[in-house]
Order: sequence, then C-alpha cells, then structure tokens
Amino acid sequence: MYLNAYPKVTFVQLRSFEAVARLGGITRAAAALHLTQPTVSTQLKELRSAVGVDLLVPAGRGVRITDAGRDLLATIEAMFESWREFESGILDRQQMIRGSLKIAGVTTTEYFLAQWLKPFVDAFPGIDVDLVIENRDKVVSRLENAQDDLAVMMTPPLHIPLSATPVMENPLCLVGPLAHPWAARRAIPLKKLADEPLLMREPGSGTRQAALEFLAEHELTPNIRMTLGSNEAIKHAVAAGLGLAVVSRHAIAPDPAADNLAILKVAGFPISRHWHVVHRADRRLPRAAAVFLQYLDQAVSISAT
Ligand code: PGA
Repeated sequence: MYLNAYPKVTFVQLRSFEAVARLGGITRAAAALHLTQPTVSTQLKELRSAVGVDLLVPAGRGVRITDAGRDLLATIEAMFESWREFESGILDRQQMIRGSLKIAGVTTTEYFLAQWLKPFVDAFPGIDVDLVIENRDKVVSRLENAQDDLAVMMTPPLHIPLSATPVMENPLCLVGPLAHPWAARRAIPLKKLADEPLLMREPGSGTRQAALEFLAEHELTPNIRMTLGSNEAIKHAVAAGLGLAVVSRHAIAPDPAADNLAILKVAGFPISRHWHVVHRADRRLPRAAAVFLQYLDQAVSISAT
C-alpha cells in the first residue's frame, strides 16, 4: 500500500527538491547537483504532479516554499537521515569482511595504486592485499593464467574474456629535458618528432605499444635511440638529454621541472588513454575484489571512454 502511494516519486526528485528548498533556487541547486536547470525543473514538475499540491511557488527571482513543501522537506530530511544510518550499517558489516585481494598493476600504476589502496585498507582491515607490479605483457600472461583477482592496465587484451571498467584518464605525454628548445614553445608540429631521438620502454610495455601505435597512425617513423626497462630509468635518461620519451602523466611529478623534465607541446600530445580495472569474466569474482571495485566506483572519478 505504501509502495503504491506515490508511485512516481523518485529519490532523485526528492534530492532535487531538497537542494532547491535549501539553496533557495533552481540555478543554485542545479549547480550543486551537477545537473542542468531544465533537468531540475522537470524533476520538480514531476514531483509536484505526483504529490498533487504546490510545494514551491515563484517568488521574485527565486522560489518560496509552501507549508506542504516544508512538510515534505522535513520528511525528506528524516528519510536521508535513515538512509545515512543504513549506509553506515552497511559499512560496519563490510569492515568485518575478511579475505585476500590479489591485484596486478602494470608498471605505471605504481605511481597511484598506493593512493587508491590506503583508504581501502584502512576501511577494510580484514582484507589482505597482495600487489604485483609488472609490465603489460606480464600482466596479460597473469590474466591468461587467472593468477590475480583484478588487474589495472591501460589497454585490456581482447583475446581473454574480461570485464573491464574504465577508471581515470591516463594522458601519455611527450617529455624532454627542461633545457630542450621545445620546452618554451607552444605548438610544435608532430612531423618534427621524426628528427628527435626517442627513448622507449622495453618490448612488452603498454606505454611503448601505445606510443608506437600513435606514431604509426600518423605515419611517423620513430628514431629510437635507446630502450630502457622502467619509467624511472626513462625519466633520468630524458633529463640527462639522451632523448625524448612518451610517458604517462601519472609517472611524472606534478611539477615536471622538479625532475628536470618538461612536457612538450607537440601536436597530438598528450595521447588520450584511460586506465581500466579488469577481471576475468569467466571466473567468480571473490568477495574482497567485489568490495574493492565498489570502493573504487565511489572513490575514484570514473571517466567513461
Ligand atoms: P606499462 O603500462 O608501460 O608499464 O606496461 C602501460 C599499460 O599497458 O597499461
């Protein structure tokens, strides 16, 4: 009977109404909720027609809440409070979860995985995390053998049944030494890159694969001077003036100059890529891994590809 009382009222409409009533106008509420004004207006109209009485009336440039609106606001506040209690109950239950979580990350993820993991291990002290860092080819072979619960990588392989969720952007930048003449320039044509010596990660690296694919797409033959087996080795070699390199933005300090590096503004860069969290679609996802995915969904900004 309760469920049928207001079949058209949704949580989203109530959230919009609460924001409009609290902030005193649709414009401010829309901004706070990251919605458009027409969306909020439509939600208010639908709510008004489901409830059957005026909840807000125009007043000057804003809106005024009616007595019925005030009653609804009190009801919503009580509902939200109950919801918060429910959520904290869920959290308490989750904190009791015990288990292990095996994650494989490609080498470049070592620059941010610890930040993902710290709040997670604090919140779920019963979950033991085992993190393996390898280059892309090795992570792919671990996925083939189902050695881990989850893997974090840029380019999920297509030959393994995987479920892959894009999380966070992974811009691949072209870096040079701080003293490079291009460091101060704004728009360098891509074809100029053919004359510059390039430093590349080892075969098997996903960064190398993405960089070579990008150059091939633009019909540019790279002048590879040296191959190095880690991002740190690449950064030091670039800073020493051995050549330029394509590196994930996450592998470079917020201020690249601190490492004697400059991000070069060459056309086409940064190459736009995303990180993905993947797991075998044909295997049962262990509870701890499902909890980690849920945590990531809330904690890390998901940007769809
Ligand atoms: P890698 O990582 O260059 O460290 O292998 C990139 C990737 O494949 O995600």
